Amino acid sequence: MSSYRIVGAKRPHGDVNISGSKNAVLGILAAAMMLDGPCTIENVPDIVDVRAMLEICETLGAKITPVSDGTYEIDPTKINTFEATNVKVKNIRASYYLLGALLTRFRKATMYMPGGCNFGNRPIDLHLKGFQKMGAKGTRATDIRDGIIRIVADELKGTHIFLDVVSVGATINLMLAATKANGVTVIENAAKEPHIVDVANFLNAMGANIKGAGTDTIRVKGVPVLPGGYSYSVIPDQIEAGTYMIAAAVTRGDVTIHNLIPKHMEPLTVKMLEMGYNIEQGDDWIRVSIDDDVELEPTNFKTSPYPGFPTDLQPQATVMLCQARGLSRMHENVWDNRFQYIPELQSMGATISVVEKMALVNGPVHFSGASVNALDLRAGAAMVLAGLAADGVTTVYSANRIDRGYEKILEKLRGIGAEIEHIDDELEHNPSEEE
Ligand code: EPZ
Repeated sequence: MSSYRIVGAKRPHGDVNISGSKNAVLGILAAAMMLDGPCTIENVPDIVDVRAMLEICETLGAKITPVSDGTYEIDPTKINTFEATNVKVKNIRASYYLLGALLTRFRKATMYMPGGCNFGNRPIDLHLKGFQKMGAKGTRATDIRDGIIRIVADELKGTHIFLDVVSVGATINLMLAATKANGVTVIENAAKEPHIVDVANFLNAMGANIKGAGTDTIRVKGVPVLPGGYSYSVIPDQIEAGTYMIAAAVTRGDVTIHNLIPKHMEPLTVKMLEMGYNIEQGDDWIRVSIDDDVELEPTNFKTSPYPGFPTDLQPQATVMLCQARGLSRMHENVWDNRFQYIPELQSMGATISVVEKMALVNGPVHFSGASVNALDLRAGAAMVLAGLAADGVTTVYSANRIDRGYEKILEKLRGIGAEIEHIDDELEHNPSEEE
């Protein structure tokens, strides 16, 4: 496996361009598998999870043609199987969107249970209960044998679904299954993330009838055909953008992040202003800087579904809290166990204690370089940020986990003055990770 080696304590400056959203494009690629015609998808990030999803779609029989950098022509009309049982399915969590897509295309779907993830249990009961309400069978936990889900539906019927937990995945998966169902499906207590809106906008561009995405009530009127035939450009990645905003913050750099949607960044921007950072913004850019004499104020973060503070920026923001003077709190309210990276940060000098779902962060701390592990995608990104701020050299192992969600991270960080290199470490082996 590989690692990133960072020589820290530089003050990055300059410009970073944000890529397409991982969590939007994974849903959009699955949605493309339901179409009755071809489509073109633009601004697709070249990251490990997207490469895996493209491969899975090809194993189903979809024809995928790279047109140019980040643009693909997708022809799903030759898909010849409802079984997504390629081993790659286990490597990415978002493959579960193929349940909704294949159920719509074939009224059947068979696939491996998406693996758990190392920040707590990641059930899919809400997905399966929703499919059941729409008329599918094989959705009970007892129906799942050998880690394989086998669902069938004589007919998918419009219905009323209330999600008792706000779930991004369940919202998208049920939206997919409802797109060609008979009648209207209402999804209440739906998640409102920008990537959900993007999947709905893609489907509507291809002929679907989805209203209310981005609110907590989504209405899907089933249509007989999804003709496709259009191009769609994926929105910028909210989490990648937030990661680079925090990279500028933790190093007291001066960086302008381009190709983002400022509104999507508000949950982070408001907290950075509270801490004392300078934030300037235009239509599609945000500049982060800090005056030399400013001591950062401590603050409290609470992760929650959008428009709350995103859990996927929690590890990165915790690194930023280590720079503030005094006691800050990070409440993780979405995942059961998303503080496993704390000991890695402590090995770099962080003074953090975890009490149940809250991390108490004392600062300011001057990180020292160390050898640390990327325990998952976002924890790995947080280790890189800590390395950028640290005195000395930091090596972040299992860099492949970071490459799952950050396109050209080496080039982008070097572009703002970071001293970072990628090392192929044949000796180290880490099991592939789930997200
Ligand atoms: C998506 O995961 C993202 N992944 C995650 O980002 C992100 O952390 C998460 O949404 C929350 O924003 C992708 O989009 C590929 P959920 P997902 O269903 O859909 C519970 C990253 O770093 N739940 O919104 O799996 C669940 O346990 C990744 O890019 C159920 O109880 O998350 C959790 O507590 C990491 N039953 C809460 O809902 C279900 O059937 C939110 O999970 C489904 C979820």
